[in-house]
Amino acid sequence: MSEKEKVLVSRTIAVPADTNPWGDIFGGWVLSLMDIAAGSIAARLARGTVATKAIKEVTFDTPIFVGDEVSVYAEIDKIGNSSITLNVYVTIRRKSQSEEFHAVKGIFVMVALDENRRPRPVRQKWTEA
Ligand SMILES: CC(C)(COP(=O)(O)OP(=O)(O)OC[C@H]1O[C@@H](n2cnc3c(N)ncnc32)[C@H](O)[C@@H]1OP(=O)(O)O)[C@@H](O)C(=O)NCCC(=O)NCCS
Repeated sequence: MSEKEKVLVSRTIAVPADTNPWGDIFGGWVLSLMDIAAGSIAARLARGTVATKAIKEVTFDTPIFVGDEVSVYAEIDKIGNSSITLNVYVTIRRKSQSEEFHAVKGIFVMVALDENRRPRPVRQKWTEA
């Protein structure tokens, strides 16, 4: 994956188990999908373990309903020394509709970890590999 390329990381269907007591899709479930997507891309880039350091500016712009197809896209925004900042976008496709539309976005900061779980340079293992 090249930098600034928005890639599809996961796609699933929202089911009743993902709802809160009021029957609406639980925001924490969506956040976990986004966190997994950010971690997946960051770990691939860092070629090793990463941890979520910060989740910023998450906005839930469109409600997600049971039966919606939920797609998570991520793009690398910035590579620091030990950190990778990603923009993560969630789109939905409603039952019987063909197009996807925007639902949620957020900024995730992931940190590459060494064997002692301390920050290490993101690119360190690239040159060693
Ligand atoms: C991730 C962890 C090892 C980082 O340790 P740390 O001592 O805070 O690291 P640093 O202060 O050196 O910061 C590491 C990088 O994160 C960046 N960073 C730190 N706080 C930040 C914030 N609030 N927002 C954005 N970036 C931040 C720093 O700028 C630095 O980036 P750089 O190396 O690219 O310049 C440590 O905080 C940790 O273990 N946290 C728990 C992680 C976790 O369990 N996540 C899952 C939650 S359940």
